[in-house]
Amino acid sequence: MKITYSEKGQYFHLSTSEMSYAFGVTPDKRLVNLYWGAELASDESLLPLAEEVLTPFTASGGVDVKKAPTFELTFGEPFDYTAPAVKVVFPDGVRSLRLVYKEHRITENHLVVTLRDAVYPFEVELHYKGYADLPLISRYVVLHNLSRAPVTVDAAKSASFHLPGGEKYRLTHLSGSWGAEYTKNTLMLTQARTVIQNNRLTASAAQATPFFALDKDGAATETSGEVYFGVLAWSGDFSIIVENQYPKQVSVVGGMGSDFENYILKPDERLETPVFTAGFVAGGFERMSEVFYDWQFDHLIPRGKKTDKAHAERPVIYNSWYPFEFRVNEENCLGMVDECAALGAELFVIDDGWMPGRTTDHAGLGDWVADPKRFPNGLRPIADRCHKKGLLFGLWVEPEMVNPDSDLYRAHPDWVIHDPTRPRTEQRTQLVLNLAREDVFEWMIAMLDRVVTDYKLDYLKWDMNRYVTEDGWPDAPIEEQKSLAIRYTQNLFRVWEHLNETYPDLLLENCASGGGRSDFGMVPYADRINRSDNADPVDIMVIHEGFSMLFIPKTAGGAGNIAPAVHHIHGRKTLLSYRSVWGMTGSMSIGINLLTADEETKSELKRVIARFKTLRGDLQNAYVYRIASAYEHPYALFEYVRRDRKAFTLFAFGHGMRAWDLRLPRFRMRGLIPDAVYVSEDGKEMTGEALMQIGLTVSFKGDYASAMSVWKLKES
Ligand code: DGJ
Repeated sequence: MKITYSEKGQYFHLSTSEMSYAFGVTPDKRLVNLYWGAELASDESLLPLAEEVLTPFTASGGVDVKKAPTFELTFGEPFDYTAPAVKVVFPDGVRSLRLVYKEHRITENHLVVTLRDAVYPFEVELHYKGYADLPLISRYVVLHNLSRAPVTVDAAKSASFHLPGGEKYRLTHLSGSWGAEYTKNTLMLTQARTVIQNNRLTASAAQATPFFALDKDGAATETSGEVYFGVLAWSGDFSIIVENQYPKQVSVVGGMGSDFENYILKPDERLETPVFTAGFVAGGFERMSEVFYDWQFDHLIPRGKKTDKAHAERPVIYNSWYPFEFRVNEENCLGMVDECAALGAELFVIDDGWMPGRTTDHAGLGDWVADPKRFPNGLRPIADRCHKKGLLFGLWVEPEMVNPDSDLYRAHPDWVIHDPTRPRTEQRTQLVLNLAREDVFEWMIAMLDRVVTDYKLDYLKWDMNRYVTEDGWPDAPIEEQKSLAIRYTQNLFRVWEHLNETYPDLLLENCASGGGRSDFGMVPYADRINRSDNADPVDIMVIHEGFSMLFIPKTAGGAGNIAPAVHHIHGRKTLLSYRSVWGMTGSMSIGINLLTADEETKSELKRVIARFKTLRGDLQNAYVYRIASAYEHPYALFEYVRRDRKAFTLFAFGHGMRAWDLRLPRFRMRGLIPDAVYVSEDGKEMTGEALMQIGLTVSFKGDYASAMSVWKLKES
């Protein structure tokens, strides 16, 4: 990103080859937004606009007419009623801020503008960061109390963004619940404020993904139209406020906290907000997704030390949860290791159930040692058997949770989040450890270090299966109790940072009950996301569409995305042939009982795994184009195009097709090299142009029908 400051026009211009973003300083030192949209090649292009907009503030006009300009950071300037990004109460009770420009500094890809209050010793730094040429800006603020008395913070959002005024916009967002994550919703904005938020305290997603997209007139498609979008890097409760103020001025204010207030900022203390990253593309939702993918591949997802994990292929997993649930023991685990190695799986994961008394969900959480009854020799024999057979070994943990029936809870009943005068509400018989506490944080690091090294782990699956209810922290001074939610998530990130730094090649799964923390706060730490606990191959037609808008599918897994034939949520029975093609679209994981499976099932799995391994390099470093949507049809088509465009695979999934659905169009591919020749697995040749302009036919017959069409660039 190029960042320039025009002395002449008093404005900042942040630009990439697709996007420009500009704001300036008025003569009375207010920071006002100027422009966000397609790239302006010349800084000078902004000068006339700056001269027009960057004028001293005058309050005139009727009471109801929005006269205030679009302030770069909203904090309640006179007549600016936009949701405030920052709101504080000073020690004397004054509740208004008057922030004026103080100074700025520009270093490579990073701009910091400091504002100070006109009267009180209080400053706010606005940070802006770029990523090479990606059309993205990451913003966050740092509040700094320079006075000798505490300041109460009632809002500390990361940024306010303003869209070009006078236009109508459609909002796209993803929402849902456990087992139904990333459902796509669209609505034309009215003057009613829309708040995308989660108030579960220690989770971000499932109910609402911290993401927004806005397009003019609702006219953008997958392949065309201007789209403004953003994601918040925070794994706790959050809100993204989208509002359309009369007459037609749309802004987005987002950050941590859904009912954030009364946060005490002590003298000389700083509060840094999470990063809110927004972008602009002119090529529709598909281009937006490409930008998200490039950002993750090239900047965000963990790199590793021995292997470049970001670009490496994910191992084929066998996970014990679906077939065995809590019934794991040394014998069946060793049996599974042998069976899954024979099929060609590459990583064996013992899921929930390996701790003392954990034969149901009533005990075991908190005591992170192998159950001596069911694992009399510990887990080493299983780790060793895996390694001997060339498999990686992985383990499930849920470090933030504790069962009341555990040694940890008996020793530290004060460690859980609770209100002293209320019953401690249990969910799944568990309570939440207060990770905001430093002693809990220290315990967790030590426990994880021990588990990773003692059990020789190559893979750690981190679960989180309940939300907070009574959010008390009675041991903390009253004025600090409210900071629980923030400190909790900050410490959560610190633990993940520790794991990444100490074990750079350990593979980490962000499970969170399936999708509970599918957010860009966790992306830099995790190699895999449990996309959803719902691995039903019909429901996935919809879930995968929402997920793949934001996240790279090679990070997409579940306890077993080739799950048992009868699905545990709604009892639907599906064909293995259908489930196994789905397995290829993400990070493949098998969750079928191999100790009881018949030979036919095993040989089919063996065949699928072998085939997947030959394609995985192309499928896992690819963009995903949503060629046909299950929201509109009884089928879904996804095209995976390798990032260098030299190979692609078309996946097609149908279910419940009627006779009249069988007359399918030719499906036009996207994102290929027009004049290159591609060859299909069965030897057919077509140019990129023909594939994109004329398209491919796909035939579906029967229910749970799937098809795969694999193409590679012809060798010259
Ligand atoms: C929820 C996870 O999403 C599942 O994959 C599994 O690990 C269970 N928890 C275990 O309790």
